[in-house]
Amino acid sequence: MANGLDDVVAADTVLSDVDGVGGHLTIRGHSLKELAGHWRYGQVVRLLFDGFFDALPGDSELEKAIGRARVEVFERLQPTLGQLAPLDIYSAMRAGISLLPDGDELADALRLVAAPAVLTPALLRLGRGEAPLAPDSRAGHAADMLRMLGGTASPALAKALDTYLVTVCDHGLNASTFATRVVASTQAGLTSAVLAGLGALKGPLHGGAPGPVIEMLDAIETSGDAAAWLRGEIARGERIMGFGHRIYRVRDPRADVLKAVVRQLGSGKETSSRKMGDRLAFAETVEQAALEVLRVAKPQRSIQTNVEFYTALLLEAAGFPKEAFSNVFAAGRVAGWIAHAREQQATGRLIRPQSRYVGPVPELVA
Ligand code: ACO
Repeated sequence: MANGLDDVVAADTVLSDVDGVGGHLTIRGHSLKELAGHWRYGQVVRLLFDGFFDALPGDSELEKAIGRARVEVFERLQPTLGQLAPLDIYSAMRAGISLLPDGDELADALRLVAAPAVLTPALLRLGRGEAPLAPDSRAGHAADMLRMLGGTASPALAKALDTYLVTVCDHGLNASTFATRVVASTQAGLTSAVLAGLGALKGPLHGGAPGPVIEMLDAIETSGDAAAWLRGEIARGERIMGFGHRIYRVRDPRADVLKAVVRQLGSGKETSSRKMGDRLAFAETVEQAALEVLRVAKPQRSIQTNVEFYTALLLEAAGFPKEAFSNVFAAGRVAGWIAHAREQQATGRLIRPQSRYVGPVPELVA
């Protein structure tokens, strides 16, 4: 057995399927391309939750309920925001979520869906000395998240962020989803399960990569020679952020969806749009250089672009600082975690594998 449980199937799920050879992602019977840019995040939350909660309302009623949950989370957590704000933004969000009730009802789930979208802009504003803005329960989830961050939300950016949230809503038994299912299998509440997912998502080998992607792009821009910079990293034994995947042996289909969104944002005539277009063109050059450097350095492994590379560009364009990129990832993935937690709970089976003891044996005492 490999240390990373490579190729081990540890759950049956109706939620999503990652085809790492064909490069396809299926979410509850729909291809990613069918959903991203066409379904709103609230609709995808409903798709994932369907069958896992009693009396789940229809799309628009559920979206309204998510809006009300944003308001409720803001009102509950506002008094503690000042104490959370000095922490790094991810830990502050996680600490805030840990204060929510730990139940298994739809209301608990909706508060958890709302929480990263509410806490992230509120904490960012506090960090820059501005008062947090209360949610607008009638706004779309992504639009409200942007409005709470900057006071306004252009329809184009709101649509781009919504597409991002849909794109990352679920992805098979990735590390954070597995962690979520392990905790859910103990019949702990949904908040405990989501906190496990949040812990796993933070690491740079999983959801912590897009911030470092921006650092890499900036460092390469300064160096002026992408291939030399990338070769230097590989020679030092570093990993190139935004590339490689445990399951995909071909390009991550999410990378193309997000790249198309960034391209769309960068196609306008305004200065901000032109800047985005230039940033995308530069990132594409870096991507090609990285793929070539990785092909030469690791010929035994097909290392392709993953979701995090264009996530970084999209979230930068949406106005989030790189420190908060993983928070926004969590704002999308939380729906998948909750659905997996409910699916696991429904099996009624505790996840409890075994380990093989390879330490010293006690001396036999006569
Ligand atoms: N840069 C350089 N080398 C890499 C990279 C990379 N991005 N990815 C894999 N490799 C190399 C490894 O060094 C290893 O080489 P070796 O055999 O010479 O030691 C070989 O490819 C196999 O690596 P593994 O660690 O076995 O591959 P694994 O399937 O576990 O890796 C992972 C998946 C962790 C994502 C890896 O590709 C990586 O570290 N990527 C960079 C971080 C990143 O982008 N994370 C986001 C992933 S997407 C997500 O979770 C949402």
